[in-house]
Amino acid sequence: MTTARANRSILVLHGPNLNLLGTREPGIYGRVSLAELNRTIERHGAARGARVLCRQSNHEGELVDWIQSAGPEGFAAIVINPGALTHYSIALRDAVSSVAVPVVEVHLSNVHAREEFRRHSVVAPVAVGQISGFGPTSYLLGVDAVLAALGARSDGENARARRAASRVKR
Ligand code: DQA
Repeated sequence: MTTARANRSILVLHGPNLNLLGTREPGIYGRVSLAELNRTIERHGAARGARVLCRQSNHEGELVDWIQSAGPEGFAAIVINPGALTHYSIALRDAVSSVAVPVVEVHLSNVHAREEFRRHSVVAPVAVGQISGFGPTSYLLGVDAVLAALGARSDGENARARRAASRVKR
């Protein structure tokens, strides 16, 4: 019997202003630069047998394009910090709900403990879930969460395949 190796390629997307990490409001977002954060996420993924690619954009349309092309580009899942777009971008929400790949939303800060307008995410209802408030670790938990979601999915697929095979044998 041959088993296809599960696709564990993860696309990590950072939204507007996250290119300024390290110098942007360090009391809230910390002193780790985006380049350092990306290296940490990539190492975390590699230790779990996952290939991680990180991209950042200040432009809503570019993020929408990357979400749409993730599946065709061969990614199995997306971890996204949509930045301020979290709170109002219906275009981003529609992109997330239009694709088959699982998406986990992450935030460095605890958005629920900040200004009222940050407590609402238009993206979270169409994501697998939201992780917020753990600093750079939010992204690592996001990677673990999408891998768990992919595992649950392939467990379901494996169970279906086993049931189909036993029906054929009988
Ligand atoms: C953020 C929270 C957002 O409200 C904010 O606009 C950001 C960063 C976070 O990671 O904590 O840009 O997404």
